[in-house]
Amino acid sequence: MAEFDVIVIGGGPGGYVCAIHCAQLGLKTACVEGRETLGGTCLNVGCIPSKALLNATHLLHETHENFEKMGLMGAKVKVDWERMLRYKDDTVAGNTKGIEFLFKKNKVTWLKGWGSIPEPGKVKVGEEVHSAKNIVIATGSEASVLPGITVDEEVIITSTGALTLPKIPKSMVVIGAGVIGLEMGSVYARLGAEVTVVEYLDAITPGMDAEVAKTFQRILTKQGLKFVLGAAVQTVERRGKQAHVSWKLRKNDAAGEITADAVLVATGRKPYTAGLGLEALGVEMGPRGTVKTDSHFATNISGLYAIGDAVAGPMLAHKAEDEGMAVAEILAGKHGHVNYDVIPGVVYTTPEVASVGATEEQLKEQGRAYKIGKFPFMGNARAKAVFQTEGFVKLLADKETDRILGCHIIGPGAGDLIHEVCVAMEFGASAQDLALTCHAHPTYSEAVREAALACGLGAIHA
Ligand code: NAI
Repeated sequence: MAEFDVIVIGGGPGGYVCAIHCAQLGLKTACVEGRETLGGTCLNVGCIPSKALLNATHLLHETHENFEKMGLMGAKVKVDWERMLRYKDDTVAGNTKGIEFLFKKNKVTWLKGWGSIPEPGKVKVGEEVHSAKNIVIATGSEASVLPGITVDEEVIITSTGALTLPKIPKSMVVIGAGVIGLEMGSVYARLGAEVTVVEYLDAITPGMDAEVAKTFQRILTKQGLKFVLGAAVQTVERRGKQAHVSWKLRKNDAAGEITADAVLVATGRKPYTAGLGLEALGVEMGPRGTVKTDSHFATNISGLYAIGDAVAGPMLAHKAEDEGMAVAEILAGKHGHVNYDVIPGVVYTTPEVASVGATEEQLKEQGRAYKIGKFPFMGNARAKAVFQTEGFVKLLADKETDRILGCHIIGPGAGDLIHEVCVAMEFGASAQDLALTCHAHPTYSEAVREAALACGLGAIHA
């Protein structure tokens, strides 16, 4: 039994960042993680491995679509699936080992095993009970599977199974047109699978700016993905090496069905807090299985905090990281804060889609007077040189004050471009502030500047 200032339960982006920052602030810190490697869902079976596959398949697509246009000739590139999976695993291993190194460097103790909280101030890992002045729950989330569906991770899979399929399926049904469904659907479509996405709502990526979502769907359709929208899935059954999916269209009850080599269930995630003993402790819970916290990440039990996917808010690694940093500051007696109005979201397809702040729909709902500055990548010289002219930057600013309220980008490098807008928003900048900032030529970021110009002074290249 050991005595710590802080024990963080969970070694994902929220937990490991929190543990490292606690240690940096001079607190004696341990992090409990039951997986063989640190990094949680994101590093092991989420953000990182999926990005490796997205990168490999994007490059594959480039060789097929654009290489000859650039005078790069030769036989068509073929896929060695085993090697591609190895590349993905190596990418994961490099990252998870990196966290282990950072734990050693910062003197964070890794308590290996699954933790529970038998009483306030105590964490049980295996047979050992450790004491801590403060405990932080950072146990993340798990796939939320529709009732009546049995996931076997072979044919009927979640995002985890989608990263280890023994061979490339010829056909795939994706249930849910959210971020996971579209990222993994893109991967397998580029690898040659016939991908059909079945979505309950009438549009893809709910919550995304509607104009961007529409453009996104059009681009993905051109890339070969098929969409069945407004469809309520009725049954998903394994039939030998395939699975059969049936649905009904919500508007007219018309029935549809399909049989495919793989069915990816990507209908959202739910907080993972099972086995912690929260009920016995009397921890107050919020909606949808979240742990209820106040604005300082504190639960109703003294000395018990929670962050990341286990609490309310978007289930994003970077939101969890920021909360991890903030709670570490608070536990060290400083001021920790997360600005929830400026949390970017990125879909790592090609083109990428990124957003921050309010959507046009939200502004309308709030009855707010706003203006739109839009600029298409067609007018961006750099995008033209790399055949990535689809998409646009859409900047939303207050009609009176010109203050930036949101930005939505679909196009090359969107996931990186969004951050200049995040910084601008953090500083309360106006669209004109962005428009009058010199942007290097030729870069994709000029499209952001042009959108800002379009909010007032007028875009040059549109
Ligand atoms: P999601 O919430 O993004 O999308 C789920 C989709 O499934 C929604 O469009 C929903 O309408 C649909 N759906 C729900 N029930 C359905 C049904 N019965 N039939 C058909 N469609 C149905 O969830 P997703 O994609 O599973 O991702 C889970 C979480 O992980 C999200 O919070 C997401 O933000 C996060 N994530 C983030 C990534 C990123 O930032 N790039 C990558 C992957 C995941």
